[in-house]
Amino acid sequence: MALKDVLIDELRDLYSAENQLVKALPKLAKGAKNPKLKQLFAAHLEETKGQVERLKKVFLELGEKPTGQHCNGMEGVIEEGKEALEKDEQGASFDSGLIGAALRTEHYEIAGYEASISMATTLGLPKIAKLLNSNLKEELSAAKKITSAGVAIMKQSSLEPEEPNKPKTGKEKYSARKSKEDEAKAAPELNKARSVA
Ligand SMILES: [Fe+2]
Repeated sequence: MALKDVLIDELRDLYSAENQLVKALPKLAKGAKNPKLKQLFAAHLEETKGQVERLKKVFLELGEKPTGQHCNGMEGVIEEGKEALEKDEQGASFDSGLIGAALRTEHYEIAGYEASISMATTLGLPKIAKLLNSNLKEELSAAKKITSAGVAIMKQSSLEPEEPNKPKTGKEKYSARKSKEDEAKAAPELNKARSVA
């Protein structure tokens, strides 16, 4: 498989990821309680629509179609965001959960753009690298804005009273069980590392 094929796969993944976000961002904007955060999500939705268009230009430039690969990673990250939206938390604490979820989506995309820009540059495709860099810059700036809005929100959240322990939902119980499995599966490797050190 040539580097160009790897790049095309990577770009199709990003195209699917951006499309999934076009669908998910309105839910974050609707769910956010803090007006500034709401506005940031709404603004990033508009930016994301532009990013989809930019990726279409990239594919036109490559003479390839943009579809062909579903981004499972973004589906998982968005699914975690849905969990944050379902949380029964107070205002700022609820928003703090949304910030964590939104930053995960941004950084997932940042990784994809950084990798594909390196590939396009290596392949001598400056026009494509430039288009991708415009998307990357927007993701970096969105993540920065969300992080700075988070400072005041998290300060407020830290003043909110702790919730009494509520009975776990079926989904939460499943997640807790899986996390124990993750720990158990890592144990042999972790023990090995410790004996080396
Ligand atoms: Fe994006």
